[in-house]
Amino acid sequence: MTAEGSAPQLTLVAGSKSRSEASPSAIQIEGFSAYYGKNCIISDLSLIIPDKGVTCLLGPSGTGKSTLLRWLNRINEDTENASFAGRIKILGRDVMRDYPDVTELRREIGMVFQQPCVFPCSIYDNMLMGLRNFKLSKSETRNIIETSLKQAALWDEVANRLEAPATSLSLGQQQRLCIARALALKPKVLLFDEPTASIDPISSRVIEDLVMSLSENISIVMVTHNIAQTKRIADHVVFMCDGKIVEQGSRSHMFSLATCDKTRTYITEEFCDC
Ligand SMILES: Nc1ncnc2c1ncn2[C@@H]1O[C@H](COP(=O)(O)OP(=O)(O)OP(=O)(O)O)[C@@H](O)[C@H]1O
Ligand SMILES: [Mg+2]
Repeated sequence: MTAEGSAPQLTLVAGSKSRSEASPSAIQIEGFSAYYGKNCIISDLSLIIPDKGVTCLLGPSGTGKSTLLRWLNRINEDTENASFAGRIKILGRDVMRDYPDVTELRREIGMVFQQPCVFPCSIYDNMLMGLRNFKLSKSETRNIIETSLKQAALWDEVANRLEAPATSLSLGQQQRLCIARALALKPKVLLFDEPTASIDPISSRVIEDLVMSLSENISIVMVTHNIAQTKRIADHVVFMCDGKIVEQGSRSHMFSLATCDKTRTYITEEFCDC
């Protein structure tokens, strides 16, 4: 892993809705490049992500969206041959340098993947993961678990079966369990990498509603290939291609006033020729 790199000007994400105009940032990315071996996947990318709202990251396959998310909470640190240059700050702290304990970083910046990642144990024990490091009483633990399951809109469906295996839940429920597990740690940012790509349309809508309601209090960064979904839930949209940001702005800007031909083609035809 390397940490050298230039620090070019920040690019502000244009705000949408009144709350975004002067919104403080949750994430500041400055001159960030990412590599696998000698292949440069992300090139000198700068971006500010506001501290609330949903930022949707769009772009063709292989463009580096997941790689970017995986560096935001340093999952890529464990990937062979992965290296980076530049700087990422979360709420003012340098992700690479100011978190000697990576678990502290991952508490603040949780991640939910395309495939729900539940452990082969009960629903309750899944929720306990991550809470074990805190010195909590049994009743405090139960309260946090109940509150998080409620926030994730899952409580009503599992309250009577917390000891059942998590794998007995439907995929949509498993995804909400993953979200509840992340919420139990009270994150300041949640990263979603195509969280609805593997689940049915009704469960997808439940997760979309959940994402929008969570985004009133925390920053959400969501990778999606689903343009209709982006139209429904995004406050801000970042269109990436070939490891670079092509265009970014508020949802209304991107869907009606996008200035770049590539952006317009991608959001109307879901095609990109770069
Ligand atoms: N561990 C790895 N080692 C080498 N190359 C990798 C590794 N992971 C990803 N890549 C390559 O990096 C590039 C970007 O991959 P990434 O998964 O970030 O793309 P993406 O934009 O998320 O694509 P998709 O929309 O298909 O998920 C791709 O060319 C991919 O093959
Ligand atoms: Mg991806």
